Amino acid sequence: MSQNVITKDEIVAWVLAYAQAISDNRVLLTELDVAIGDGDHGANMDRGFKAVAQKLQSGGTDISQILKTTGMALLSTVGGAGGPLYSTLFLQAAQACAGKSELSLQDWTGMIDNAARGVMARGKAAAGDKTMLDALLPALQALIEASHANLPLADALLKSAEAAEHGKQATIPLIAHKGRASYLGERSAGHIDPGAASTALLFLIAAKTLAQS
Ligand SMILES: Nc1ncnc2c1ncn2[C@@H]1O[C@H](COP(=O)(O)OP(=O)(O)OP(=O)(O)O)[C@@H](O)[C@H]1O
Ligand SMILES: [Mg+2]
Repeated sequence: MSQNVITKDEIVAWVLAYAQAISDNRVLLTELDVAIGDGDHGANMDRGFKAVAQKLQSGGTDISQILKTTGMALLSTVGGAGGPLYSTLFLQAAQACAGKSELSLQDWTGMIDNAARGVMARGKAAAGDKTMLDALLPALQALIEASHANLPLADALLKSAEAAEHGKQATIPLIAHKGRASYLGERSAGHIDPGAASTALLFLIAAKTLAQS
């Protein structure tokens, strides 16, 4: 029977699997950023998550600490816009689950909610601005709905991954209003936002690694 909570070991597995997925998708993320940015998103994320993976080799004391270590490692290794934004995502997630030894769907939803609020506060972007939020906010919305419907955790994670992927695809026609892509104006339309792609991957890996045991 599948477990209905997320454990500390699963959080480590999630972040490490994401680091691997970023490495595997480095070229793709770079290509997306070449189209509407400066072509460094794949390299930025890969550098940051390689540092994270190294820090997490020894595991971690608790869930909040693991997420905090992740956010701090990103902050010290990745510059530009994406690094601090991903750092904020993990630091705000860490804050929301302080003191918890495992996470229910409600805990996970609260954590993603705090993470999304942090990213919005830091980047001053909103839904539809063609950023990572266009994957993050639909994923959060799916989690809130699943949480209200009391769905099993694994189903909720799958729904949030689907919503993030849908949100990522839905950035194609959008005109960017934030970051370097916004300099392109209408020419930013017709491409997936790189940050939305890396965020959709974060939720896909969550669905694959969490609530599995
Ligand atoms: N203000 C913002 N709020 C939320 N996300 C943002 C913001 N600005 C940029 N992003 C996200 O960051 C991604 C780019 O990350 P990258 O690692 O390439 O950093 P960067 O090159 O410094 O950023 P940029 O070229 O957008 O200024 C974008 O695709 C977008 O999803
Ligand atoms: Mg860039």
